[in-house]
This record gives sequence, C-alpha cells and structure tokens, in this order.
Amino acid sequence: MEIRKVGVVGCGLMGSGIAQTCAQFGYETVVREVNQQLLDKGLARIYDAWDMMASKGKLSREEHDANRARLHGTLELADFADCDVIIEAIIENMEEKIKLFPALDHIVKPDTLLLTNTSSLSVTQMAAVTRNPARVCGLHFFNPAPVMKLAEIVRGLTTSDETVEKVKEFAVSLGKTPVVAKDTAGFIVNFLLIPYLLAAIRMLENGLATREDIDTAMKLGCGYPMGPFTLLDYVGLDTTLYVAEVIYDEYKEPLYAPPPLLRRMVAAGMYGRKSGKGFYDYQ
Ligand code: CAA
Repeated sequence: MEIRKVGVVGCGLMGSGIAQTCAQFGYETVVREVNQQLLDKGLARIYDAWDMMASKGKLSREEHDANRARLHGTLELADFADCDVIIEAIIENMEEKIKLFPALDHIVKPDTLLLTNTSSLSVTQMAAVTRNPARVCGLHFFNPAPVMKLAEIVRGLTTSDETVEKVKEFAVSLGKTPVVAKDTAGFIVNFLLIPYLLAAIRMLENGLATREDIDTAMKLGCGYPMGPFTLLDYVGLDTTLYVAEVIYDEYKEPLYAPPPLLRRMVAAGMYGRKSGKGFYDYQ
C-alpha cells in the first residue's frame, strides 16, 4: 500500500507538530479540530514554525509554499475518507478515544492504518472498538514532534505484523527512528522518564536544592538538553500528572505516584509554558 494522504485528528501541541511533520515530509495532510478557533490556533503554530525555518534558511521559498499547499485544515471527520493513514492526537481521555475510533473505522478505507499518538493509554482497548483491530497501532511522537527523532511504535495485542512493518516504514519516511514497544502503560520512554521527573519534584518538595540548581545539575552533569523542571514545563504538568497516574494505576509502584506538589500545581492551573506559569514564569 502506498501512503499518499495522512489524516491527523487534533491540532493541539502534538497534533499540530505531527501534521507539520507529515506535510514537511511530502504527504498530503488533513488535520481536524473540533472548532474553527482551535483549528486556526493549531495551523498558526505550524505556519509560524515554517516561517521560522524559512527565515533561518532551512526551507526554501518553494518548499515553504509546497508545505503550505499540502496542509489542509478541516472540522469534518468525513474529510478523512480517502486518507491512507490516520493519526489520532486528541485529548488523553479513553472515553473520547473509544468514541472516535469506531467513527474513524466507518469513514476510512478498509486498509487505512488507524494510529494513535497516545503517550500512555491502551492501544488494545482502542483497537477493540473497531471492526478490524489488526490495523490499529500506536505511533507515539515526542515533543517537539518535528524535531525529536524518535517514534515509539506500540503494538497492541491484536495489531498484525503487517501493520507494525508498515508503521515502521511510515515512521522512517517521516525522518524518525522507530522503536517497538508492547502495549503497557508508559511504553519505553515514559516508563523511564516519569520516575525521573517525579523524583526531581520530590527533591524540590524536600528542599534538597533549588529548581534552578537541579536543572543546571542535570544539564551540565548529564548533558541533558533541558533540566527536569524546564522539561516538565515544556511537556506540561497536566500531561505529566495524567501519564504518571495511568502508569501508577497499572503497576501501583510508588515510583509513579504523583507527588502532592504536582497535583497542587495542576489544580492551580500551573501547567507550564502553555498556561504561562509552571515551575518557571513565562508571562
Ligand atoms: N519545527 C521545526 N523546527 C523546530 C521546531 C518546530 N516546531 N521547534 C524547534 N525547532 C528547531 C529550531 O529551529 C532549532 O533549529 P536550529 O538548531 O537549526 O536553529 C532546533 O529545533 C532547536 O531549537 P532551539 O534552538 O529553539 O532550542 P534548543 O536548542 O534548546 O532545542 C529542544 C530545543 C529540541 C526542545 C531541546 O531543548 C530538547 O531536545 N529538549 C528535550 C525535549 C524532550 O525531552 N522531549 C521529550 C518530552 S517527553 C514526551 O514528549 C513524551 C510524552 O509522552 C510526554
């Protein structure tokens, strides 16, 4: 099967980054949001990124215009009818996802791949509400999706070998290096990253060091591109809390239990960069 057209459901932080990547790598791309305001916001994020790349000489004027011509926004799921691949990147909420998957299943062609960018929820559970669970698979991108080189391929219990192979090829065609993980909470990256981020918050709660010094220590001591608090603000504290809860729910391991400070900050609307305040101030 040749992949020509990709549908991305959701144009938030991850959905817009994924749509940007697909259009940049030559795929006709249609991205859907639930209302015009959210769609315009997501598309503006993508156009800004391309303008930034063009101003740095990373995109020629022709490439810039070709990317824009390949990208289409919509409010209608029906516009996915002729897509060869669909990537779901909506809110991390299983109820919403298991409403979406049967709807997609009925709209798309029988051989269209149905992929989810979930960072923690069960791919098998999403596949179970479709007529052909063999074509459902996880394809997890990392923030910022156009830049980060990894794609986790999450194999549900019912995902076929053929689907996994096609998704691997697709990931490579997007400039990503694929790794394959089983469908267990956290997959590979979050299973390792979440305990590290939560440990940093516990250090801060216990007054062991300042947030700035912990960030500097991990940047300069380990060569990480960002310290844990900068990364927490970048990923979003709400997202981190959600992923930690999903993994904790599955394993009941104290390592994944969200620290009180994280819960309180999320309750206060301090989500990080996206809300203007998290461990640092972005206003
Ligand atoms: N589109 C295209 N290019 C982009 C871009 C975008 N949306 N965003 C950034 N870039 C480019 C910049 O233009 C820049 O390019 P040049 O080097 O050619 O100038 C390059 O990316 C680096 O960006 P910056 O110069 O702005 O900043 P930086 O050097 O500090 O890098 C970073 C930024 C790539 C985010 C880096 O700090 C980093 O790798 N941080 C760690 C990110 C990380 O760990 N992500 C995973 C989070 S976990 C997750 O996502 C999983 C989950 O399920 C929660």
